[in-house]
Amino acid sequence: MATELPTTDIRISTEAIRRRKAGTPIVCLTAYTYPVARLLDDHVDLLLVGDSVAMVLHGYKTTLGASLEMMIAHGQAVMRGSARACVVVDLPAGTYEASATQAVASARRVIDETGCQAVKLEGGVDMTSQIAAIVAAGIPVMGHIGLQPQSVEKDGGYKIKGRTEEAVAALLRDALAVENAGAFSVVIEGTVEAVAADITRRIAIPTIGIGASGDCDGQILVIDDMVGLTVDRVPKFVKEYADLRSVISHAAETYAAEVRSRTFPGPGHVFSATKSRDDA
Ligand code: KIV
Repeated sequence: MATELPTTDIRISTEAIRRRKAGTPIVCLTAYTYPVARLLDDHVDLLLVGDSVAMVLHGYKTTLGASLEMMIAHGQAVMRGSARACVVVDLPAGTYEASATQAVASARRVIDETGCQAVKLEGGVDMTSQIAAIVAAGIPVMGHIGLQPQSVEKDGGYKIKGRTEEAVAALLRDALAVENAGAFSVVIEGTVEAVAADITRRIAIPTIGIGASGDCDGQILVIDDMVGLTVDRVPKFVKEYADLRSVISHAAETYAAEVRSRTFPGPGHVFSATKSRDDA
């Protein structure tokens, strides 16, 4: 089936995001599906099809469950559901780390098959050749430093970064490396507040914070976390702006009771032999 992709020229460009350095904060959220992208598109500057989709929608324990095909399918859905936001799709673990050639091939597939504006990948100094090669191929890249969920197994868990002098210096090296490699922006995740604020002052590309600092040039949250849909542990840095867990479980409870009592479907939800105006 042909995919109907909206034209990209009315979208917020990665260049427009880059120019927002030290300006009005950049509003970002993750999105994985068509209906949610439709709801968010008017309110955000950037939608990230994060590899968190593997955990949030597919029930994997870590983001390592994401595949390129999974990211492309969700990227297509988010592109169909949005017309304005800059859309960035994550490169999942195992699709870019081996070499610059592998990174460019994966990024090219994501761009060609979704029509999104940019890709994101995790890593700093260790990923500069990958970032530089993707950018040289004409594909904008968003970096991701600090806590890197694709490395949690290697790191032995979700560990906040920047708590030792050594770690602070490494984070700054990572931020500068990502900037110098040509990224248009960088996510800073799970990092000591003062360190994220300092990096934001020292680099010329926008920083997007998640569990980082209010001084970052923008903020991002995982959509399911911020609307209260997360059923497992909600991280400290999340603010729940709605409680959809309660809304959904109350709706399901009421529906179940009405089905069992034969209250649903009622007269307004069934069809008579003669066509009426409100028939579908
Ligand atoms: O995958 C994701 O959702 C992310 C954000 C948390 C930045 O990388």
